[in-house]
Amino acid sequence: MLRYSLIVAVCESFGIGFKGDLPWHIKSELKYFSSTTKRVCDPAKRNVAIMGRKTYFGIPASKRPLPERLNIVLSTTLTPEDLPADVLLCNNLEAAMQKMESKEYRDQIENVWIVGGSGVYAEAMDSPRCHRLYLTKVQGQFECDTFFPKIPQGFREVPLEGDTPQGVQEENGIKYEYKILEKQ
Ligand SMILES: NC(=O)c1ccc[n+]([C@@H]2O[C@H](COP(=O)([O-])OP(=O)(O)OC[C@H]3O[C@@H](n4cnc5c(N)ncnc54)[C@H](OP(=O)(O)O)[C@@H]3O)[C@@H](O)[C@H]2O)c1
Repeated sequence: MLRYSLIVAVCESFGIGFKGDLPWHIKSELKYFSSTTKRVCDPAKRNVAIMGRKTYFGIPASKRPLPERLNIVLSTTLTPEDLPADVLLCNNLEAAMQKMESKEYRDQIENVWIVGGSGVYAEAMDSPRCHRLYLTKVQGQFECDTFFPKIPQGFREVPLEGDTPQGVQEENGIKYEYKILEKQ
């Protein structure tokens, strides 16, 4: 069974979004998101980023689709013509995963990343396909209208990967810390 990991940045109230965008601007955290979701061991393969419709269109037009990753957008209202030809449209998460397990894709992809938003994260954490949650904890309160769902029981913190900065980081007065939780 093909598994996936989630990646998200949350503030103290577990807010993740405001008016279709991120509630904060932390360049180094965006770089971490980008390098983590792009990283492959086999250079002949690439990773997949699965996201809801609002998350996809919340990415600035000049930065989407997310480069060097196969982008999959979940939606029940879009049609393929609403998206660039190299972006896949699926009408549910399991359909997306089954597509990635199919003969057409399975040998081309390495890791699957769930990159939001709320409902997609909730469904993803409940599934046996869920491996890890890469969580950036942003200190402080930000105005948010979208929130990360409650993390189910059974997620345990594991050591950060080699190149990940340890401890509290700071950029423009915003403090944040990288964590990795693994589903037991
Ligand atoms: N802090 C972070 O790390 C982070 C990460 C991601 C997003 N965000 C923020 O979160 C906000 C967007 O998240 P959101 O929760 O509002 O929306 P979202 O999950 O990105 O998009 C919701 C839409 O996606 C489609 N969808 C979601 N789950 C689906 C499923 N299982 N099957 C089929 N379609 C599905 C539906 O589209 P249809 O209505 O077309 O069916 C739904 O209306 C933005 O502000 C964004 O910046 C933050």
